[in-house]
Amino acid sequence: MSTLVVLQAALDGEVGRFPEKRVADAVRGLIERYRTGVDPGDVVLDADLAAVAYAAYRMPATHAAVASVLGRVADLAPGFAPARMVDVGGGTGAAVWAAAERWPSLTDVTVLDRSGPALTLGARLAKGAGLPDVHWRRAAIGTDIPDADVATLSYVLSELTEAARADVVRAMAAKAGLVVVVEPGTPAGYERVLAARDELLAAGMRVLAPCPHDDACPVPRGQDWCHFVARLGRSAVHRRVKTATLGHEDEKFSYVAATRAEWPPAPGRVVRHPLKRKGLVALRVCGPDGLVDTTVTRRDPGAYRSARDTAWGDPWPDPAG
Ligand SMILES: C[S@@+](CC[C@H](N)C(=O)[O-])C[C@H]1O[C@@H](n2cnc3c(N)ncnc32)[C@H](O)[C@@H]1O
Repeated sequence: MSTLVVLQAALDGEVGRFPEKRVADAVRGLIERYRTGVDPGDVVLDADLAAVAYAAYRMPATHAAVASVLGRVADLAPGFAPARMVDVGGGTGAAVWAAAERWPSLTDVTVLDRSGPALTLGARLAKGAGLPDVHWRRAAIGTDIPDADVATLSYVLSELTEAARADVVRAMAAKAGLVVVVEPGTPAGYERVLAARDELLAAGMRVLAPCPHDDACPVPRGQDWCHFVARLGRSAVHRRVKTATLGHEDEKFSYVAATRAEWPPAPGRVVRHPLKRKGLVALRVCGPDGLVDTTVTRRDPGAYRSARDTAWGDPWPDPAG
């Protein structure tokens, strides 16, 4: 059974502890709060109901985004078998679920968050799910980050001041061999990822993904933003508490993964949905020379076959092709 299915069943059980309308009302309140922006001093997940509502409507999506990113990282880091992980601002532990599935080698995991209710819920969700032992540590985000092979920071930066964002990213770079930062796939999320990328490079790390280089991002600022998408199925409860009708959602995210290891990045990366027409595939690829629009036709059968199977976010040229 996939991790997402196990997670969704556990979430459905948590929602069932409350009248469903209360959870749906709390979800509506959280959506509005995140939409208008969270002040750095605010503890949003300040009660059991708020934590359950957050987990019910966001955790499957943040899990899917982080799982997608870790898949990209693992493709570029063959043989990487981390033992220690820290998830900073980890809340209910979405990134831990994704990392535990990707790297069963993990044995020593810390989730650091200031929200007691989120950590308590995270611990309950993880129980019996076959995750490694997790140390759920209640703490404000600062520069006190434990040593780790992999450090994650997912959907947190918008809740920190600019100075605190830079401090935590620098601290993670100092303490972890691989740092992964994931943000919503919005222009503002992308800007925060770019700032984190600058900090990681300044700390002496190299970008592993999505960028195929450590140079300035060639995406024209103000006109476009680098982001990707992960599709996930919704359970019936997920749909109801979100007052949604579709059986799936597409989570857009921006990310950067940086390392001190010698793994080479991808030669290029597809940065938007490939346009597939009869006999041709049009790809926008970020490569060592910047953004390039390339059209692959049937005249090159090998490349055409690869291009037909290529998705937004994949490396290009296809490493298997
Ligand atoms: C939007 S949630 C993301 C949770 C989780 N990382 C995920 O991807 O689902 C943001 C989390 O950051 C935590 N957080 C925000 N500011 C914090 C701070 N200054 N210290 C500790 N935790 C903080 C919140 O409590 C919350 O759990």
